[in-house]
Amino acid sequence: PEAITVQELAKRMGERGADLVKALFKMGTPVTITETIDQDTAELLIEEFGHRINRVSEADVDIDTSTDVDPADTLKPRPPVVTIMGHVDHGKTSLLDAIRGASVQSGEAGGITQHIGAYQVQLPDKSKVTFLDTPGHEAFSEMRARGANVTDIVILVVAADDGLRPQTIEAINHTKAAGVPMIVAINKVDKPEAKPQKVREELLQHEIIVEDMGGDVQDVEVSATKKTGLDKLLEAIQLQAEILELKANPDRAAEGTVIEAKLDKGRGPLATVLVQRGTLRVGDVFVAGASSGKVRAMINDKGQQIKEAGPSFPVEVLGLSAVPSAGDPFTVVENEARAREVADYRKGVLDKKRTTAAPVSVENMFATHA
Ligand code: GTP
Ligand code: MG
Repeated sequence: PEAITVQELAKRMGERGADLVKALFKMGTPVTITETIDQDTAELLIEEFGHRINRVSEADVDIDTSTDVDPADTLKPRPPVVTIMGHVDHGKTSLLDAIRGASVQSGEAGGITQHIGAYQVQLPDKSKVTFLDTPGHEAFSEMRARGANVTDIVILVVAADDGLRPQTIEAINHTKAAGVPMIVAINKVDKPEAKPQKVREELLQHEIIVEDMGGDVQDVEVSATKKTGLDKLLEAIQLQAEILELKANPDRAAEGTVIEAKLDKGRGPLATVLVQRGTLRVGDVFVAGASSGKVRAMINDKGQQIKEAGPSFPVEVLGLSAVPSAGDPFTVVENEARAREVADYRKGVLDKKRTTAAPVSVENMFATHA
């Protein structure tokens, strides 16, 4: 929009209108809360408050209410968030099972992953890694895009007996678009017809040069069924994570992203949330997309009730008023009135977007995080 009222901008930013008016006055722009300001002034103000501007398109900006500018001395190391991607049946879930030492794949209906599974694994050195599993089926393109978006590292699983396939290539494109480092896991090397070298050569055609070919993308040969190469893969993840120096402030109101959500017959609306900064606690009031609520209970990936979840933790949250959409921002706010206000506002924005905007594409999803 060309112009926005101070009131509306305050809502979008999750700040008090009066504080904006005060800041505007200091900037030499005396206005009242109902008056409009132009886009340049709005952008200055947003930056002034330490928020980030996400340029959705040349004409529209979306405001990330996350004050991502937590002071450096508040930041503490956090576990890496690792998303597993690849073509259908290339062994993503099996590989994750092998890493977790559990068996989820055999429990899935027909062995086809239908959703993003989120798990946390503790390594022998006590460090933790959060894994997101994604479905390889072509119908789940949006989930791959979403996965790439919330992740620090992508593990591209390629079956050595099958090579690069359409969803492998799609995953490569999402990863590149999100600017996320990649580790290639060449799976099923136990199979007699496995051709790991052919996989490396095919990757070259997509400008992915693995270490084995003199490039800087780590590649590891693994077998999920024979459980070989897993230590090397974990080492590769740790090495990549060290380079990224991942940190977040755990001592602030929690913010994260809804990675999946559904309506449960018995428990009502449920959302799996990846906490990205701050610590989420039972009793916290939050907004998730256009839905609001109060955390009634939190359940970890082992099915245990937990009281709090810090940065990089995936948790299932109970206590939502409605089912949010995957990809929605999840933000803890000070009270329920505020939560409803933000939710209502977002609802208005979402309704408007739904009727006027083009369908959500991968391109504009990424653009919101550029
Ligand atoms: P989607 O979630 O549907 O995209 O599949 P996925 O990538 O999660 O594959 P999944 O783990 O379900 O495995 C697909 C099939 O490949 C299963 O029958 C697995 O047993 C088999 N498989 C997975 N890893 C290996 C491996 O390392 N070696 C062999 N021989 N088979 C494997
Ligand atoms: Mg799977």
